[in-house]
Amino acid sequence: MNDASQTYAHATIDAFELDASLHEPMRLRERIHALEWLEEWLDEPRDDEPLRIRARSLHARLAKVQARLCEGLRSDIRAGNGAASLQRWRPEFVDGSEGYDHLDGLMSEVFAFDEPADSIAPLEPDMVFYQPTPMRHVFDLVTRASITDDDLFVDLGSGLGHVPMLVSILTGARCLGIEREQVYVNGAQRSAEALRLGHVSFVAQDVREADLSSGTVFYLYTPFTGAILGSVLERLRREAQQRPIRVVTFGPCTTVISAERWLQPSDESNTNLIAVFHPVAV
Ligand SMILES: C[S@@+](CC[C@H](N)C(=O)[O-])C[C@H]1O[C@@H](n2cnc3c(N)ncnc32)[C@H](O)[C@@H]1O
Repeated sequence: MNDASQTYAHATIDAFELDASLHEPMRLRERIHALEWLEEWLDEPRDDEPLRIRARSLHARLAKVQARLCEGLRSDIRAGNGAASLQRWRPEFVDGSEGYDHLDGLMSEVFAFDEPADSIAPLEPDMVFYQPTPMRHVFDLVTRASITDDDLFVDLGSGLGHVPMLVSILTGARCLGIEREQVYVNGAQRSAEALRLGHVSFVAQDVREADLSSGTVFYLYTPFTGAILGSVLERLRREAQQRPIRVVTFGPCTTVISAERWLQPSDESNTNLIAVFHPVAV
């Protein structure tokens, strides 16, 4: 470590130690920033053992605040009070990026996903690899799509199940995740059971073959493109002839879906945000 970076590390750790507000539960963004900085710094070999000891001890204290916060949220969710507890984390402003932030750090710990130990099956052409919707957009989705406990929300390509779980906690809606990868479905089921989310279920199936007959809201975070997207949209169009549905999208598939004549966007202002489409007669 050269002199300048050692001085910088000392100053940063001093500042973190002096900032008592990092221990306040609501200072989540700042605490996660401090934890990540400390982890990165501790990852590198350093010849300043006294500073390493201070950094490790500070990290342990901040991690304990974080663990207590997450355990509180987990027990509120298990008791059926998750919507009220999570209200305070609802973002006031949602930017259009697909990047992750402190809310993703918080909810990953609350959902307690385990890293898949088994290997993941290779994707077919037109299938998109797993990447979760950033949590702030899921909060936004619930509002924009006006989801209520009368809905059956279906995540098409649900991965580890963040979206159905958070939507169900926030709204009481029944939620279904359809995901072709069994390893992800197993992980999602374990997380939902641990939180006693009785309204959430997952099936390991290809969306092209799954039963879509009871969904009222269908969500796509660009799970597939090309011919697969085309065939699933055709299935949704037929579902829309049977009953009212909404189609909710995020990511690049929004532009493709906007071109569907049978779907009308409820708001055309920003294709980088969650988009809600209503079927119309053509
Ligand atoms: C971009 S991720 C979205 C994950 C999740 N919906 C979310 O927003 O957090 C796409 C997911 O779709 C799954 N997938 C891709 N093609 C699929 C298909 N034909 N049937 C079911 N799942 C599929 C992938 O395995 C992956 O987990």
